[in-house]
Amino acid sequence: MANLDHLITEAQADFAACDTTTALEDAKAKYLGKTGLLTDALKGLGKLSAEARPAAGAAINVVKKGVETALNARRDAILNAAQAEQLASESLDVTLPARAQSKGGLHPVSLTLQRIEQLFHSVGFDVATGPEIETDFYNFTALNIPENHPARAMHDTFYVDDAHVLRTHTSPVQVHYMENALKQNKTPPLKIIAPGRVYRVDSDATHSPMFHQVEGLWVDKDISFANLKGVVQDFLQRFFESDDLVVRFRPSFFPFTEPSAEMDMSWNGGWLEIGGCGMVHPEVFKHVNIDSEQYQGFAFGLGVERLAMLRYGVNDLRHFFNNDLRFLSQFSK
Ligand code: PHE
Repeated sequence: MANLDHLITEAQADFAACDTTTALEDAKAKYLGKTGLLTDALKGLGKLSAEARPAAGAAINVVKKGVETALNARRDAILNAAQAEQLASESLDVTLPARAQSKGGLHPVSLTLQRIEQLFHSVGFDVATGPEIETDFYNFTALNIPENHPARAMHDTFYVDDAHVLRTHTSPVQVHYMENALKQNKTPPLKIIAPGRVYRVDSDATHSPMFHQVEGLWVDKDISFANLKGVVQDFLQRFFESDDLVVRFRPSFFPFTEPSAEMDMSWNGGWLEIGGCGMVHPEVFKHVNIDSEQYQGFAFGLGVERLAMLRYGVNDLRHFFNNDLRFLSQFSK
């Protein structure tokens, strides 16, 4: 029987010429297929004598193994190359700088409100809220501003309908809070601030038709004007981080406080008006069934935008509401 060893080198050369597994399977047929050279050789064994057959068979099998080894090696090589190519084409460059994420931030008025709430909370004031659409009763009547009272005209009110207004101040929250406290059998001390939006028909560099106030109310048995002065001055000193800041009270008039005062704070050698205040009027206590012989209280209302403008050095109130990101983004950390 002819020597078949050369088939191994021939097969290696044929396989090496194949670039794909499909081509490789075709090339394989020549050697190992049904009519392949090695298959034929194995079939020819039958014609050999019984003595010659084992040696010839063994020799053919050695060659067959060699061809199979060459085939498997080439198949692995083709698959590895394909995988390497895929990995290279799909690779991620993790060293590329990331696209910047634009983060949102809080509005300067919100930041100011947060600061106000935090400072008052630290001296025991709870935060209360009330509706922005108020009845005439809560916005005026319960605050001792009866119908046809000239003080109603002072407020430049937005009317929703005959009986409802956009609240012109946060003082109605005083009434809501004291009323609810009573319903829940909660007695003084009542100690709250009420921050929120208020509305007035007014618009210029220092007035906006919507702005924010923070109301303060402290009712107890021995509350005096001295407590009011101490609380407000302490708050402002901490808010503006200045121990030298002082508050001045100018006699004034509000129907729901008696006596009443405007509060000014010292600023750059002068005085700036920052809100109104006074001792809660007995008429208001009467509306919420609190005995004014037994209890006293003070109330104040501060303009939040005014505080924000001073703290941040903003000279026009309207900047807060124009939604210009060049302005607003300066406040987000
Ligand atoms: N509500 C008053 C205003 O808006 C301010 C104020 C509040 C005055 C509490 C006295 C007591 O002008």
